[in-house]
Amino acid sequence: MNSSGEQDAGQGPLTRRRFLQVLGTVGGAGAVLATMEALNLVPSARDHTTPFQPPRASDFALQGRVNNTTVLVLGAGIAGLCVAYELEKAGYRCEVLEARDRPGGRCWTVRGGTRETDLDGVAQTAQFAYGQYMNAGPARIPQHHTTLDYCRELGVAIEPFANENADAYYYNESAQGFDGPLVDRRLRRRVARADYLGYVSELLTKAIDQHALDASVGAADQEALLEFLTSFGALNQQGRYVGSDRRGYVTPPGAANLSGVVGKPYTLSDLLAANFGVYFPFELGWDQAMMMFQPVGGMDRIPHALAAALRGTIRYGAQVQQITVADDRVEVIFTGPDGGSLKVGADYCACTIPPNLLALIPGNLPADVTSALSSVVPMSTGKMGLQFRRRFWEEDERIFGGITDTNLDIGTIWYPSYGYLGEKGVLIGYYNYFEQSDEYAALPPEQRERRALDQGAKVHGEVYKEEFENSFSVHWTKIRHSEGGWALWEDRATSPVYKALLEPVGRLYFAGDHLSYVTAWQHGAFESARHVVTALHQRVLTESGR
Ligand code: PHE
Repeated sequence: MNSSGEQDAGQGPLTRRRFLQVLGTVGGAGAVLATMEALNLVPSARDHTTPFQPPRASDFALQGRVNNTTVLVLGAGIAGLCVAYELEKAGYRCEVLEARDRPGGRCWTVRGGTRETDLDGVAQTAQFAYGQYMNAGPARIPQHHTTLDYCRELGVAIEPFANENADAYYYNESAQGFDGPLVDRRLRRRVARADYLGYVSELLTKAIDQHALDASVGAADQEALLEFLTSFGALNQQGRYVGSDRRGYVTPPGAANLSGVVGKPYTLSDLLAANFGVYFPFELGWDQAMMMFQPVGGMDRIPHALAAALRGTIRYGAQVQQITVADDRVEVIFTGPDGGSLKVGADYCACTIPPNLLALIPGNLPADVTSALSSVVPMSTGKMGLQFRRRFWEEDERIFGGITDTNLDIGTIWYPSYGYLGEKGVLIGYYNYFEQSDEYAALPPEQRERRALDQGAKVHGEVYKEEFENSFSVHWTKIRHSEGGWALWEDRATSPVYKALLEPVGRLYFAGDHLSYVTAWQHGAFESARHVVTALHQRVLTESGR
């Protein structure tokens, strides 16, 4: 160290740049980046994700130990697979029990030939054409979710998922809170958004001009705000909104003398009456804003990749019948696919069985834990995939991906973000929640289908029925081994139930998206799994004399 606090690295004083160069030759690009992050020179991925250190075999080697800890994982959904995958990195011996005959849990991609019999005995076999699919559970991944880190690590190819499309529609049918001349008809999203923005900007401009904001906005800021509002709302020189090409054309511009004709804006009053504004905030959300992604070929590529990466076994068709937490072990009795009953045990257990179902499994979990589990409310939600002979939404309506919002009982219509310009296509004909999901769930699939087609035809017209080929519907409250879409928490911060389930029972840990603040996302399952992995690994490392 010299007097100015810089070390002589052999080639002159250690400037910041020189320091990074030296570090680069020793620690590689990763070290440089990490250091630059520490110096605040580049934005950190940590702004978006929770730090996690995967367990390493060297963690044990450093202590002169060999890790022969066994872990039983209950459930091969995202959380269970992640626990096993991460623990195996440090030599844990994991065995996974899965009730279904596939990995993924709610991360489920339905393709032609997929069969499912729900709790009511309603059996369906998907008739989708080759290459067509629906993601019945998770279907969109925001950029900041850990899910994408696993896609990278496991080599799962991803592609954009269009969560937002200016040319998809809003459709509100007349109902309480939805009326005026703009209901019972579809409107391109860009039209409604341009008009709302235009009018709101115009009104604020007027308020500033009339000195209504003088008390809250200084003179210089008023100037800046006016300038902003003019561009934000596409206002004219007079600060009025008279429409713009943002809302699209009545006659599109083209060659030679075709200058294009822009449509006239709707009135603010009509727009407000139709209440399209209820949809605007959604796609600004932390988890819903573009870019968003999906694995190429179906969401289940993720659990299949995780399952393939495991060294330990996954026993499919294994239904847990009893869980016993002993002092230094956890033991589980399950029935296998042949109906025979087997007992397995391990040093530790990570249990990802949905709380509503786990509460019903006999064993020796403390009564307060069982009652906490049984009080978690499962969400009712359902989706229907509709296959069409022809991608009329692309061919006739120029909608390539994205989502139409409606106030109909179908909720939304999702246009596929794959297979563009292809022949057939599967769109999501409904994605609904609560009572609307329950209503559809109560119908036999043919009636769900008819109702979804009637509703969708309100948006797309008769073509919706003419080009329709087949459907497959999933209502999660009726799906065996899930019996719910996700957990509904009121307030996790104050919930004693939530708090209780974050604690292990002896050597049994609970994991799943329900034990995160990111419920209803694979991210929540990954994050919860990592949390348990960290806790379990720390505990094993600090255990003495093993
Ligand atoms: N992640 C699910 C989805 O994007 C459920 C969800 C919906 C979660 C809306 C938050 C907000 O559809």
